[in-house]
Amino acid sequence: MTETTATVIGLGPMGSAFARAFLAAGHSVTVWNRTPARAEPLAAAGAAVAASAGDALRASPLTVAVLTDSDAVRAVLESDLGALPGRLLVNLSAGRPEEAIELQRLAADHGGEYLDGRIGSYTRRIGSDRSNIVVSGPRPLYDRAVPVLRAAGSDIRHLSEEIDAANAVSLSMATVFHHVALAGYLEAAALADRYGVPVAEWMTMARPMSELTLDALEAAGEECLAGDYHSGQATISTHVATVEVAQRAMEAIGAEHALVDATLGYLRRARDAGHADGEFSVLFELLRAGPRL
Ligand SMILES: NC(=O)c1ccc[n+]([C@@H]2O[C@H](COP(=O)([O-])OP(=O)(O)OC[C@H]3O[C@@H](n4cnc5c(N)ncnc54)[C@H](OP(=O)(O)O)[C@@H]3O)[C@@H](O)[C@H]2O)c1
Repeated sequence: MTETTATVIGLGPMGSAFARAFLAAGHSVTVWNRTPARAEPLAAAGAAVAASAGDALRASPLTVAVLTDSDAVRAVLESDLGALPGRLLVNLSAGRPEEAIELQRLAADHGGEYLDGRIGSYTRRIGSDRSNIVVSGPRPLYDRAVPVLRAAGSDIRHLSEEIDAANAVSLSMATVFHHVALAGYLEAAALADRYGVPVAEWMTMARPMSELTLDALEAAGEECLAGDYHSGQATISTHVATVEVAQRAMEAIGAEHALVDATLGYLRRARDAGHADGEFSVLFELLRAGPRL
């Protein structure tokens, strides 16, 4: 098989977007997917299709894995461990921090090199100037991979020498994404809908609301950094009262309010722990209690 610049293993929506971005940047690309039919559109776009995962790894010095999870990555690597020597694998699949350490060891035990990372963008942003990737692991390996990876993620950075750092960040960011960003916004949109506010109109207000949220987040970050939760914006007592109004309103009309309940629970705990006059950000102190991992 002719050597290519980069291999992409895993051609779901995200892996396919990576392969397309690499091709668009002029790189020669090999692809492999467990279900071969998913490789066909990439072949039509100019990628070489490997017959096996091992052949795919052998085809390029750099391989990007975009699979469902770490178990899938392990299964693919173990299908042909002899393909690893001299190859650099960048694993961007979802996984636990501990699994990144295990996969790094597996690669090293078989002569391969390993980086782990997190994709912080939707598929449609890959290859655009609004695509975010963070990578952890040895910096020299990152320096070797970044000229190719940048074609997929314009906002790419080396997070840490520690291989498990990207997955740790990813876990916490996924919490924001699923529980706050999407679920929270949709819970709110559903409430507005119950009151007859059309979703199209609600969505026009979602972006300014997101900007306000970002502003509040920046203020909270400054308070957490300073360890001073008395900046005079709004107290926990005020937030409790405001969220109680929302909860009562939602209850009264039978609207779903699980996330409002959860937030109110945190706010009341902070108030009862003696933080009634602290800012919202004092929740950080409440929630971070526990052993450092
Ligand atoms: N989609 C997004 O917007 C997005 C955003 C950020 C991060 N991500 C992450 O990117 C990764 C891929 O996401 P996706 O949206 O492309 O998901 P997907 O459609 O579920 O793709 C998963 C890929 O993994 C393969 N796979 C699963 N188990 C396997 C196994 N045991 N052996 C070999 N291949 C296996 C699938 O192969 P088959 O085709 O044969 O099933 C498919 O190619 C995930 O870790 C996801 O968390 C996605």
